[in-house]
Amino acid sequence: MRYAEITGWGKALPPTVLTNADLEQLVDTSDDWITARTGIKERRIANGEATEMAEVASRHALAAAGLQSEQLDLILLATCSPESLVPASASYLQARLEAVNAGAMDLNANCSGFVYSYVTATALIAAGVADRILVVGVEKLSFITNYLDRNTAILFGDGAGAVIIEATEEPVGLMASELGVDGTTTELLCTPVDGTRGVPGPRDPATSSITLQGQEVFRRAVRMMSESGAAVVRDAGWDLDDVDLLVPHQANQRIIDAAARRLGLDSSKVFTNIHAYGNTSSATVPIALTEALEQGRVAPGDKLVFAAFGGGLTWAAAAVQWGARVEPISTSDAALPKTDKSVMEVLKPNLDFFQKGGR
Ligand code: UT7
Repeated sequence: MRYAEITGWGKALPPTVLTNADLEQLVDTSDDWITARTGIKERRIANGEATEMAEVASRHALAAAGLQSEQLDLILLATCSPESLVPASASYLQARLEAVNAGAMDLNANCSGFVYSYVTATALIAAGVADRILVVGVEKLSFITNYLDRNTAILFGDGAGAVIIEATEEPVGLMASELGVDGTTTELLCTPVDGTRGVPGPRDPATSSITLQGQEVFRRAVRMMSESGAAVVRDAGWDLDDVDLLVPHQANQRIIDAAARRLGLDSSKVFTNIHAYGNTSSATVPIALTEALEQGRVAPGDKLVFAAFGGGLTWAAAAVQWGARVEPISTSDAALPKTDKSVMEVLKPNLDFFQKGGR
């Protein structure tokens, strides 16, 4: 039987930092409120294109796996903030990486997109369609976040995470998964008409930012992340006590804490980095996984659970039997360019646009 092992991992975070103190200058909020209600202290704002972040994360993942880009069979890029409607962002990434033997496609399941993509990539490997797949979660949410709307400005940030998945005969990798959606609830978290539902013409600030009904999304996120997390543990034939590390979507520290409590997992078995990056949607899980490995939180043979929830409303969970590799084979010096601009200078086009009529 063919299994699919994560053999490489990497991340890319823009150098520009948006702190809670910065947000106090933009909207009626406070560091105390944001910290207590979300756990977020800072987020990153991109100064370039999303696939620039994806490229850096991918180069680290390729180096960790000891692979060259031409050895990839497929690039699967999870995003809900694509660079264009046509082509898929995965095409831009394929060109940047010169992955000349790879197919490439995007997958949009919003904040659950990376876990959806990881499950899809594993299935393609198990079916013999591909041997080596690059799976990337990347978002430039600062494009669709109105930093003058305190309901959403405090939550979202930019970033990318990537993994390499390779075929193996060893019984490792994805042991059980659950992919779900309730498409009747799309209005709870969406950018209303920033697509072909809009009328032809320039983007309208009134309808081009993320809108969120926070409390309802919060409740559903806690329920679905804990229920789907418990389901994949059961379907993998594990007990919850067997789980070594939960790598959850980072939307709100309180969502993570409540979901872990419902699962009966001690906080020592939960990886969080939301304080540093906020919610980077499909990028949160691969960034968190990369940092968990960097910090020695994953040991050979560990049992991991990924759990995510987001717009759509989608959810996804995966029970992952880790293999032997917890150290990168090699490293890359790929890095995002530094900038002399202040965070307010980087945000100026966003602020100018939404000042003209955003909510
Ligand atoms: O990937 C899954 C996606 N999920 C999410 O992105 C987020 C899910 N939801 C949440 O994380 C939380 O609902 C929020 C962080 C968005 C909001 O936290 P909350 O504890 O649900 O606050 P709330 O909406 O119930 O608001 C409580 C109070 C209100 O004031 P009143 O009516 O009690 O006087 C709000 O007007 O806090 C006020 N408020 C704020 N105050 C300072 C709302 N936003 C802010 C703010 N700063 N940024």
